Amino acid sequence: ARKIIIDTDPGQDDAVAILLALASPAEIEVLGITAVAGNVPLSLTAKNARIVCELAGHPEVKVFAGCDRPMGRPLVTAEHVHGETGLNGPKLPDPTMPLQPGHGVDFIIETLRSEPPGTVTLCPLGPLTNIAQAFVQAPDIVERVQEIVLMGGAYFEVGNITPAAEFNIYVDPQAADIVFKSGVPLVVMSLDVTHQALVTRARNDAFRAIGTPVGIAVAQMTDFFERFDKEKYGSDGAPLHDPCVTAYLIRPDLFTGRHINVEIETTSELTMGMTVADWWGVTDRPANAMFMGTIDADGFFALLAERLARL
Ligand code: BDR
Ligand code: CA
Repeated sequence: ARKIIIDTDPGQDDAVAILLALASPAEIEVLGITAVAGNVPLSLTAKNARIVCELAGHPEVKVFAGCDRPMGRPLVTAEHVHGETGLNGPKLPDPTMPLQPGHGVDFIIETLRSEPPGTVTLCPLGPLTNIAQAFVQAPDIVERVQEIVLMGGAYFEVGNITPAAEFNIYVDPQAADIVFKSGVPLVVMSLDVTHQALVTRARNDAFRAIGTPVGIAVAQMTDFFERFDKEKYGSDGAPLHDPCVTAYLIRPDLFTGRHINVEIETTSELTMGMTVADWWGVTDRPANAMFMGTIDADGFFALLAERLARL
C-alpha cells in the first residue's frame, strides 16, 4: 500500500476523499491527517477530520491541527458552499478521539524524515499552507517526497471563487507557488476534472442505497453540497472535487492529463491564485505538473460506491 498524508479542510468532499482512502487499505496506508484552515476555520476542520475518521470506524488515525491561516493573506472561507460547520448535511456526533499533540507541519516534517526517501505521498485537499510551510521550515524533506497528488487549480474551467481562480489555490497562492516550484512530482486534479465528476440524482441514490451509516452520511453530505452548485451553475449535481485525489491512488487509469508547466499568479489582485497552465506548450518553461483534464466519471462513482460499502 502507498503511504500517504492527507492534508485537508473538511468539507463534505474532503470527507468523502478521506472515507475512500480509509476504505482502501490494500492500496492506501494513511500515516496521518493534517487539518488546515480553508473551507472553514482550523478549529472546525480539525474537528471535522476526526468526525470523519470516527464515521469510518477508524478512531486510531492520527489527526493533527496545522496552520490556522494562509502564509501572506487573510483567510478566506467557504461557508456559503459547505455550511457553517463545513460538514453540514448529516447529523454526526462530536468526535471523542483526541487531536494529536504537536503541530501538523511538524508531523509532515518528522514523517518525511523518518520514512525511507521516496515512499511518502502528500495528498492536499485544501489550501497548500501546511505543505509549503513544511518545505520552508525543512527544505531537506522536499526531495524525500514521492509525489504530491492535490486538488486545486483550473485551466479551461477557470475559477470558482473568483473568475480566474480555484478556491484552494486562491486562498493561499503564496503556498501554492512554493509547492509548484518545489520540484516534487505533482499530479493536479483541477476543476477541469472535478466538474466532470458530478453527483447526479442516480449517483446520490447509489450512495444512499448502500444503507450503512457511511453510505447515508455521504448521500446527505452530497445532497447539501449540491444545492449550491445547482443554484449557481444549474449543473446536474455538484462536483465531487477532493475524492479525485484518493481515487487516483487506487485507479490512476480513470484519469488523463498532460505533463505541462503550471505557474501560480501571486501578484495581480484581478487574477490572484490563477493556475497559469501551459496546456498548449506555447512556452519553453519546463513541465512541473501532471495537470489532469479528464475523468471516467462512471468508473469513479462505481469505485466510490464499491469502496464506501466496505466501511
Ligand atoms: C475545493 O475547494 C473546497 O471548497 C473543496 O473542498 C475543494 O477542495 C474546490 O475548489
Ligand atoms: Ca477541500
